[in-house]
Amino acid sequence: MIKILFIGDTVGRQGRMAVSKLLPELKKKYEIDFTIMNGENLSHGKGMTIKNMDEMHECGVDFFTAGNHVWKFKETLAYLDEEDARLVRPANYPKGVPGMGHKIVEIKNGLKILIINLQGRVFLKPDIDCPFRAADEILKENKGDYAAVIVDFHAEATSEKITLKHYLDGRVSAVLGTHTHVQTADHHVTDKGTAYISDVGMVGKEDSIIGIDKESIIDKFLYQLPTKHEITVEGSSFFNAVLVEIDEKTAKAENITPIFLKNL
Ligand SMILES: [Fe+2]
Ligand SMILES: [Fe+2]
Repeated sequence: MIKILFIGDTVGRQGRMAVSKLLPELKKKYEIDFTIMNGENLSHGKGMTIKNMDEMHECGVDFFTAGNHVWKFKETLAYLDEEDARLVRPANYPKGVPGMGHKIVEIKNGLKILIINLQGRVFLKPDIDCPFRAADEILKENKGDYAAVIVDFHAEATSEKITLKHYLDGRVSAVLGTHTHVQTADHHVTDKGTAYISDVGMVGKEDSIIGIDKESIIDKFLYQLPTKHEITVEGSSFFNAVLVEIDEKTAKAENITPIFLKNL
């Protein structure tokens, strides 16, 4: 059995601080083999710098997935194109954008996993390519003996996420939703061995609006004007993740356990 920890969208310095405080202990406690984080909000809530990814790597994060905010920093775009980048961006952007939407990574003792990142179109970015067909293409072109196939589906609508679960049912080890920053209570493993949760949640400031200071977001809704997102480090943090246990011989999931900690 392999144990994969998937950490939800980690937001800004407060999120990074919570990860550095909690992750080393969690990895020991659950005997984690491989840790994946959605890092699209690592650097002040939008995008991820190399420095912040390195910081998370030092705390025990092995690999990053991303989402709609991955395009923010030029240095990250260059990094995406490096062969040994520990980062994927959503696969279903038009051909020609930097980086890869999937990667094959060795986790231990020659065991390899396939990590796929997709982005939803409903209420998010309707013009990108079809995530369902993008998943088909990746699975068709990357047939292999994987210990696990993990999909991060970065999407807003639960309907689109649940549909992808059914579409990929039995063909991947896990479909894990990200982007809403709110952990859902619908985690389960299907009869065909696919672990699922509509959203893993976030690591970030508790007294906030999905990780961002609430005042600026309230103003945004009230006045419909552009506002600057602030993240003041204060108070407690949420740490949301899921632990997925997978039979490495069949790549079928056996368990998915949500983790919801408060870092006081
Ligand atoms: Fe996010
Ligand atoms: Fe997002």
